[in-house]
Parts: sequence; C-alpha cells; structure tokens
Amino acid sequence: MPVILAIESSCDDTSAAVIADGIICSNITATQAIHSEWGGVVPELASRAHQQHISVTVHAALQEAGIELDSLDAIAFTQGPGLAGALLVGMSFAKGLALALNKPLIAVNHMRAHVMANYIEHDVPNPHLCLTVSGGHTQLVWVTGDTKMQVIGETIDDAAGEAFDKTAKLLGLPYPGGPLIDKLAQKGNPNRFTFASPKAGQLDFSFSGLKTSVRYFLEKEVRQQPDFIERNKEDLCASIQQTIISILLKQTQQALQTYPAKALTLAGGVSANSGLRRAFGELGVTLNLPVFIPSMQYCTDNAAMIAKSAHYQFLEGDFAGQDAEILPRFSING
Ligand code: KG4
Ligand code: ZN
Repeated sequence: MPVILAIESSCDDTSAAVIADGIICSNITATQAIHSEWGGVVPELASRAHQQHISVTVHAALQEAGIELDSLDAIAFTQGPGLAGALLVGMSFAKGLALALNKPLIAVNHMRAHVMANYIEHDVPNPHLCLTVSGGHTQLVWVTGDTKMQVIGETIDDAAGEAFDKTAKLLGLPYPGGPLIDKLAQKGNPNRFTFASPKAGQLDFSFSGLKTSVRYFLEKEVRQQPDFIERNKEDLCASIQQTIISILLKQTQQALQTYPAKALTLAGGVSANSGLRRAFGELGVTLNLPVFIPSMQYCTDNAAMIAKSAHYQFLEGDFAGQDAEILPRFSING
C-alpha cells in the first residue's frame, strides 16, 4: 500500500510509472525525437506526440509492473510547471482513468518531483540542499522534510540546460546540445578560453551573459579564421562547460554558508553532465558532506519521480478533484 500509477507529460517525454509501497516497479518513457529537426521543443508537436504515445506508455508501465488497473489506489499526473498543451494531455488521461476506476487523483509539481528523484535510490538526510538543473529551470532548493521544501535561489534568465543548448547551437551542434558539449568537452582543455560568468542576486543564477560572451567571441574569431570553431570545438566545449559548472558550484557553496545542509543532492536533466557530477562529488569531499545524484534514468524527465512524489502526497491525504486544472507556471513555493 499504496499502489499508484503516475503520468508525466510536461515537456517532450511521455512517461508512465508504477510505484508500490514507495518502491518503483516500472518507469517507461517515450522520448519525442521530432523536436531535434526544429532546434528546440515545438509545443504543438509535443502535445500531439503525447496524445499519440500516452496509452501505449501507460499500458507498458502497468504490464512491466505486473499490475492490473483495478489494483491501483490512485492516479497521479504532472500538474505543472510545463507546456500547457502537453500537461493537458497527461491530466486529461489521468482524469479519465480515475473516473472510470473510481480512484483518487494526485496532482504533482514537476520541480518538486525532480528533487524527490533523489529519494528513489537513496536515504537522503534532511535538511539538505538540492541543485535542480534542467532545460527550463535552475534552482537551489532547501529541503527540510520529505514533502517540505522551498526555492532559495533560481535563474533570473536562461536555465543551465538552455545555456548548454544555446551555446551548442552557436557551435553548430544540433538540439539538445548539452549531451554533445559533455561528450566533446571530455577531450578538450577547460582552461583554454575564458567566458563571462555573470553575477545575479545573493543565491540566484544568470546565464544569458555567458551565451552573449560566447557569441561575440566566436564572431570575432571566425572573422579572422573561418574554420575556428571546427578546429577548436573540443576546447570550446570544455571551456563553456567549465564556466557553467563553476557558476553552479559557486552559488551552491554560497547557499551552504547560510543553510546548514546535512547533504547535497543534484536533480534535473543537466545532472547527467559528467563534469558536473564529478565536480559536485569533489565539492562534497572538500566540504565533508555526503552527495547524492540520481541515476541517469531519474535525472531527465521521468514518471518515476512523479510517482515518488505522489507516494508521499498519498500518505498525507493530498488528493486532487476532477475539477483540477493544469498550472503551467506552478512554483515549489506555491
Ligand atoms: O530535465 P530535462 O530532461 O528536461 C526539462 O525538464 O527541461 O533537461 C533537459 C536538459 C537539456 O537542456 C539538455 O541539453 C540537458 O538537460 N542535458 C545535458 C546533458 N544531458 C541532458 N546538459 C549537459 N550535459 C549532459 N550530459
Ligand atoms: Zn524536468
């Protein structure tokens, strides 16, 4: 108890998971390849693809978990933040299923769920500090209990993932550029080029100045040497990645000055970055703090994290009605 089916459809991944008694039994994700042709996620195409994939994905998640529909105790869905049309597909599917089965609904905050992904595989002590880095968000989250958390710092412009994707685009790499920068950076010299590390408020982040600094630098160099990017791709990637990581780590350390964390956690798609994972681990060793990072499948968007969040909400009696609405700008802080 309880057995919950969770559905995630906030961006470009259609995902379904089953959790039983707090343990993930299945986590199936259909990733939408179509967006790479357009250099970014196209909302209308995302909604259509969710609509196309959702029944099959839910069916596969139930099948892998060996769970029949009537054994479910609740149906959870991502309420926000995310793309409105994409969220509507997941919520409507969840509502239809809940109505047909006469089961309660659980509405989950996607950013909260990214943080909760850390609880799937680890016993994380509280209070702890989570750095959530994704394509749409960059947040420092202070977690004081299983469902108690607040955002204490966030980006004032681009997200860390956008910083990777937009600078990758300047280098002529296809979308999403983050994983490609990561790969090329492994063979490059991170100290070869220096780019701007813009400052934001106390614990906030800013990345748009970095993108502009990379753009001006490339324009200048390419004028003198047309194949500059091709010749220096690996060093460029390593230097850009290093700058993004140092901005992230600096604010994390700054937060630790005022927030007495017992552990550090990472969450979101950018936590798949090998340089960030390494640097975060090293920071933990330096500060003598345990560091937890979800395995890859729970870093990028997935329904298992929605299911984990829903599990705790179920225990607290936090259910939604059939009149629930999507919240495309849903904040952790309410
Ligand atoms: O959390 P996520 O899957 O989706 C959102 O909710 O946004 O994050 C996607 C972001 C993209 O910007 C992608 O480029 C980035 O995560 N990403 C990476 C890596 N893998 C994914 N960025 C840097 N290095 C990676 N290895
Ligand atoms: Zn996400």
